[in-house]
This record gives sequence, structure tokens and C-alpha cells, in this order.
Amino acid sequence: MPCVWALFPVLAMTLSSAQNLLGDRSPQSCRCDQDLDCTCSHSGLSSVPSVPDQTRTLDLNYNQITEIHSQDLGPLRELLVLKMHANRLSQIDPQAFSGLWNLKELDLSQNLLTTLDHRWFNKLGALESLKLHSNLYKCLGSPPPFQTLVRLRVLSFGGESLEEIRVSDLRGVGGLKQLLVDANNLKRYDSGALAQIWPLDHVTLGLHSPFLLNQTLASAVLHDVSYPQTHLTLDNISMSTNLSVLPFREVAQKRVRHISFHNSYLTDQTTVRLLVEIDGAPITTLSVNNITLNGVGSWEKAHKTDHKSLDEIFIKDIVVLNVFEFRSFLPLGFILEYPRKISVINAKVFVMPCFTAFLLKNLMFLDLSENLLTDPTLTETLCEGAGVLKNLRVLNISANAIKSLSLISRMVSHLSKLSHLDVSRNTLNSMPPSCPWPQSLRFLNMSRTKLSNATSCLPPTLQVLDLSYNDLEELSVELPALKELHLSGNKLLTLPPGSLYPNLQTLTIQINTLNFFSHSDLLSFPRLQNFQAGLNKFICSCDFVPFFHSLSSGKSNVSLTDEINNYFCDSPLHLQGTPLSLVHRSFPECHYILFVALSCGLVLVFLVCLGAVLWKMHAFWYLNMIFVWLKAKHRRRRRERMRREDRDTDRLLVTYDAFVSYSERDSAWVDNYLIPELEQTESGNGGVEMTKGNYGTFCHQPVSMERSSEETRAESSSGASWDTRPESSPRPEPLRLCLHRRDFLPGRWIMDNIVTAIESSHRTLFILSHNFVKSDWCKYELDFTHFQLLEGNCREDAAILVLLEPLHHDDVPKRFCRLRRLLNSTTYLQWPQDPDQRDQRDQFWTSLRQALRPVQDLD
Ligand SMILES: *[C@@H]1O[C@H](CO)[C@@H](O)[C@H](O)[C@H]1NC(C)=O
Ligand SMILES: *[C@@H]1O[C@H](CO)[C@@H](O)[C@H](O)[C@H]1NC(C)=O
Ligand SMILES: *[C@@H]1O[C@H](CO)[C@@H](O)[C@H](O)[C@H]1NC(C)=O
Repeated sequence: MPCVWALFPVLAMTLSSAQNLLGDRSPQSCRCDQDLDCTCSHSGLSSVPSVPDQTRTLDLNYNQITEIHSQDLGPLRELLVLKMHANRLSQIDPQAFSGLWNLKELDLSQNLLTTLDHRWFNKLGALESLKLHSNLYKCLGSPPPFQTLVRLRVLSFGGESLEEIRVSDLRGVGGLKQLLVDANNLKRYDSGALAQIWPLDHVTLGLHSPFLLNQTLASAVLHDVSYPQTHLTLDNISMSTNLSVLPFREVAQKRVRHISFHNSYLTDQTTVRLLVEIDGAPITTLSVNNITLNGVGSWEKAHKTDHKSLDEIFIKDIVVLNVFEFRSFLPLGFILEYPRKISVINAKVFVMPCFTAFLLKNLMFLDLSENLLTDPTLTETLCEGAGVLKNLRVLNISANAIKSLSLISRMVSHLSKLSHLDVSRNTLNSMPPSCPWPQSLRFLNMSRTKLSNATSCLPPTLQVLDLSYNDLEELSVELPALKELHLSGNKLLTLPPGSLYPNLQTLTIQINTLNFFSHSDLLSFPRLQNFQAGLNKFICSCDFVPFFHSLSSGKSNVSLTDEINNYFCDSPLHLQGTPLSLVHRSFPECHYILFVALSCGLVLVFLVCLGAVLWKMHAFWYLNMIFVWLKAKHRRRRRERMRREDRDTDRLLVTYDAFVSYSERDSAWVDNYLIPELEQTESGNGGVEMTKGNYGTFCHQPVSMERSSEETRAESSSGASWDTRPESSPRPEPLRLCLHRRDFLPGRWIMDNIVTAIESSHRTLFILSHNFVKSDWCKYELDFTHFQLLEGNCREDAAILVLLEPLHHDDVPKRFCRLRRLLNSTTYLQWPQDPDQRDQRDQFWTSLRQALRPVQDLD
């Protein structure tokens, strides 16, 4: 409804996004958030940029910075974290970090530093983490660089160039929790150099060439960092010779329990040597990540070794070079009977022979995710569900090539202790109507399995169910024990009915096609606490928006646990893409009909009031008059043009001596006195005898009148003495009057008639009385005459006022200001009321006749 918007234009308020005061000062390559964490990574910077002085975190990773000057970081007294990983740093001023008393984390790894300077760290008493690995220094230098770092807990150093570690190098460093030494080319090591920094939680050692070439040195290093509680990770070790396995003797002796290999190389022979070296060692966790095995699994020679303590084997990303010759796991029975936890991830396992399953007596956790299992090989792996893996609690067969859910359910149904089953990322497609499950099953992950339906196949014992990223359009399976339900990434239009999930505490339903959810929807889940529904296609209705605001402000029992910025409006169109947290529906939008009705009502009232006011002020009248006047003006112009072409036409125009403007109520006076007196010649008045028949031709008789301006002036000056100057009776001659009752053309608009009458008369005679003042038409006639006067090309005495009764200008209502002014400024004739004063009446007529005297009389 356009009237609404025309009257109440929407004032769009532009909220200039609160331009961060600090953001203004930082260069464009850096983004600083409200917590003053500035990120300038990957920006091609060649020097330290200037950032706000209060910056707490400065991330300069992956730039081209070559140098840190003394003043570069000077003002950043609040700095807690400085990251300069992967730059081209070769020069650092000794005082560069001297102002950073609060610094807790410093990362200078992967740069081009050729020396370390102890003065850099002099003032960094608060430093907890220092990363210096992958640089070009050959030694740590002297005096020992880290002496002042009493709080240090995390330290990394080394690089391809590191050649020696001296006994004093790490003086002052104690109580480290994490140590990384990149010493792949280490040539000299003072025994005990790393021994002082215990107790260590995690040690990562890159000892490639010592393991290959200098096992004594490798053993010395391992000896110094190995403690029973230490998690030892050996990176980049090639165990290709019998000798290279020797250093593990150290590990076994120091009773290390957790050992990991990253990026390593093994052969059958060295594997056997390794198993022999760690024979009887209390290793509980063996983790192998990204390893290449050059062998066929002939490890029988180690079958006498003791690995009872082995509890967890984790193998990920294994490459078996001779995969087709690889033998069975059977000879490995001596290892496999102990662990409770085995993960073989991304190792191209396509089957685990059934008899291997018999070996895994203690197994509680089996993760075979990201392998090549299919329906038949899964059957083999689980021995057709026949009495193996009796202790299995967790089975993970995520990301394999299994297709049948009913097969999976049959295979696991005898695993009477199974509580977790992860079948995600297989292509299951559909769910059978019912499935057997072990009673113990609590957790089922069927995420990303292309399921298009959900049936009572789902076990009612479930507490956690993940059905995210499938093709579900609805879910209505009763799961009374369910506490967590994940439904993100489906095609659901509404929330599932809460009554089916009386114990549900967590519901995630992001990235669906939800249009809204209501208070009652959430209330139908009696226990719901955590709710995530971002990235849906919300209709930002007037009900939903306020409900969402109350939900996101934490006023309800249910809390939104995902990013509030993930909630967008999808419709109405003008709100599409707007974060819901910024949307506020206004009254007009929400109560459209009411608003339109109200505003139209208001407009109506306003128009009525306006109309009333205009009426009161006679605006329509003036408008009307202006219109008629403009028309008359136009007509006059046309007439003048015609006169120039043919003078005779003008003669036809001015027909009357006077147009009489009077109120209908005064018509008696006009009929009885004025007409007889002026139009008819009577003896008493010395008038010219006129025949009645003349009336008809009066208004149409052409009277030629061209008056000069001199005449006009002469008349106006003489007009001042009309009622005072005694005048000898002129030769009575009938005057031609125009009377509306008689001379107006019937059928014409009265205004036009009036205008024509005034225009075709020399003068206008106003018969003023209280009646006149009350008559609107009369006033109109007066006004029009006044307009003509204002036009200038008209005589000053065009208006003649006759007062029928005494009329003070105060008697005239204020709105007839023109009449009041005329009464003040123009002389007028006063009609003697008393019939006895004949003399005065005669005098009146004489004066009136004089005033109305036809123009040619002057000649
Ligand atoms: C490694 O040790 C095994 C015995 O454990 C031996 O048979 C083999 O020949 C040795 N290999 C080398 C290269 O010394
Ligand atoms: C199963 O394996 C996948 C991929 O390795 C992993 O993301 C998931 O967390 C595992 N599930 C369980 C229950 O351990
Ligand atoms: C289910 O599996 C998917 C993919 O492996 C994983 O991302 C998700 O975290 C798992 N769900 C739960 C509840 O662990």
C-alpha cells in the first residue's frame, strides 16, 4: 500500500560497523580482533609491521621478514605470544625482545638464524615456550643461551646444521615438559647434556644419522631423555641395519612405556631385532605413524620375546612395500594376545583373517577405519559373528567399503560387550526395518552413510546416535535412552518429535532445511540442554525472531552451543543472509494489516482535519477564484489579440454600465428602488423613459467604450465627493444594469456568469448590508473585482459601494478583510433609511447616477 510508505518513510539507519580504533592503526596485512590478537601470517611482509601497542598475540608466521631491529617490538609491552615461524630471519638485534617482559610464547622456528644470542632471552623471565628448531646454527653457543628462562616448559631447537650439544648448553633449563631436538646430523654430544632437564612428558628426537652411523651417540642421547613416564617419539629414523636398532636397548633399560615412530623405515630383519631389543621392556603403547615396511612379515624369530605389557598398538598410514607377499598375522600371535587396544588405520587392510580374531583375546578396542573392508571380508574378519572378540567394547569400521547394515548388525550381535560401533563413512544407503543388536550397544555412528531412511532398526538402547550428513527427510523412531542425537547435514524440515526422546540432552541439527523451531518444539524435549541448529533456512517470522533472541541470550533451559553467527535468515527476501542476531522485526512488519489499517485511519483523520481547516480558512474558495481569475485573464488576453485583428469584436464585450452585486435578501430594495430608479426614466427622477421591452436587449446591446487613463484618474479624484457634492440633476438617462437574476445565462456555471458579468460591465455596484456580508457569492464577486483592480488595466472606480444600512468595518467579519479595507479606503454611498428624507434620497440617487455615469458622458 503505497500511501503507507509515502507517509511513513523508512529511515534507514546506517550503523557504521564499529571500526576498531586499533584496527585503524594496524597495516592492512594484519587483522586484530577485540582480544588484540593480531594475525599477519602469509602476508609477504619483509619487516615487522607496526601493530597496536596493547597487542597480546602477534602472528607473523609465513612471511619474508629477515631482521628484527631493537625498536621493532619495543612498544609491545603487553605481548604474550610472538610467532615468527617460517620467515627468513637471519639477524635479530640483541635488545629486540628486551621490552617483552610478559612474553610467554616465542616461535622463531624455520628461519635462517646462524647463531643464537643469549642476550635475546635475558629479559624473557616469563617465557614458557621457546621454539628455535629448523634454523642454521651449528651449536647453541656460549654463554648458555637459556639460563634466564626459569619458567620454560616447552623447548625445541636444532636443525639440519646442528652438529654438537655441549654439556653446559642447557644450563638453567629444568622441569621441561616437552622437548624437541632436531639433531638429524648431530656429530658430537656430551653425555648428560640433556639429562638435567627432566622430568619430561614428551620428547621428540630427530636422530636420523646417529641411528644410522653413530649408535653410541644416539644411545647417549636416548639415555639422557628416557624416563618411565616419558612419551618418546622418534622422528625420521631409518632402521635398515641390525646396528641401527641398538639404541633401543637404552629405551628398554630406562623402562620407557610409551614409544612412537614417525616417518620411519623398517625391514623384517630389523623388526625382529627391535622386538628382541625391547624384549621384556615394560612398553605399553607402541605407536607407528607413517611408516614404510620392507618385508613380508616373517617375524617368527622373535616369537620367544616377551611383550606382555603391550597394551595398545596404534598403526596409521603404513606402507607395506611387498603387500602381496605379506604373510598372515598368525606368527604374530605372541604379540597380539596381549593388547587391549589395536588401531590399524589407513593401512589398506582388506581383511583380518578369522583366526587372527581368535588371537586377539584381550581386545576391547578395534579400530580398522580407513581401510578396504567389504561385506564379505567383514564377515571373515568377525568370524561370521562366531564367538570371537568376546571382550570387544569399541569397534570402528568407519570409512571402509561396507554396504549392508543388516550384515553389520548380524556380525556384531554376538559381541555381547560392544558398546560403541562406528560405521560412519560407509555407503549403507538404506536401513532395514529391524536389526539384531547386542544389548550393550550405547553409541552408534552412522554419519555420512547416505542413509535415506531411519527405521526401528535403530537399537533402543542407544545413548548417542550420529545420523549426520545423510539424506534423511524425517526421523520418528522412539529411542527412550537417547541422550545425544546428531542430525546435522540432512534434509529435515522440522525438529523430530520430542516425545520420542524423553532423555535427550544434546541435539545438533545444523545444515538442514529447518524453517523455524518454536518454544513448544523445544519444550517437547523434556531434558534438552544443548541445541545446535545453525546454517538452516530460517524464516525470520515475527514469532521466530524474538524467540531466537530469548534463546540466544540464555534465558531458557536450552542453550545454543554453536556459533550464534551461524544463524541466518533465508526469508523474507530483504533479510536473506542477515545474521539472526542482528534482525529485529518492527511493529509494521509484524502487524502489517493492523498497521495499514491504523495508518490509513490516521491518514483519513488527517485528511478530514486538513479538509476542515481548509474549509474554515476558505481555501477552496480562493483556489476556485484563482482558477476562474486565471481563466478570465486568459480570456482577456485572447480578446486583446482578437481586438488587434478586428476592433469591432471588442464592441460586443462591454455591455453594461454596472453589474449589481447584492445579496438575495436585499433583492427587495434592488427591485423596488434601484431598478426603477436607474433603469427606468421616471418624471420624479428625471430619468429617460424606457420600455420594458428594452430589458431583454440591455445586456446584449453593444456599448463602445474606450477610456483613456486620464479619464480614469479624473474619475477617481472626483469619486471622493460623491456623497457630499451636491450635483445638479443630469439628464436622466436609463442605465444598463446587469442583475444576476435576470441577466445570467441559465445553464452556465455561476462563477463564469459572475466573471462574464463583471467583465462585461464598466463597474460593479456592491449593495452592502449585513446580508451581503453573510452571502458568499457576494463576497466572491467582491473578491473578483478586487483581483481586477489589482490587475492594473482597470479603472480605480470599478467598484462602487452602497451601504444599505450603517455598516462599520468592525461589523464585517474578519475574513472579509478586503471588504473591510474597501470600507476604510473607498468612499461609499449611504442609503438614507428614513423614507421621509426625500432630499437625501434624491441626493443619493444623483450621486449614484453620477458615479455610474456612462463613460461617454465625460466626453
Ligand atoms: C642381522 O642380524 C640377523 C640375526 O638377528 C642376522 O641373521 C643378519 O645376518 C644380520 N644382518 C646384518 C646385515 O648384519
Ligand atoms: C573411528 O575412526 C574415525 C577415523 O579414523 C575417527 O574419526 C572416529 O573418531 C573413530 N571413532 C571412534 C568411536 O573411535
Ligand atoms: C561420527 O563419525 C564422524 C566421521 O567419522 C565423525 O566426524 C563424528 O565426530 C562421529 N560422531 C561422534 C558423535 O563421535
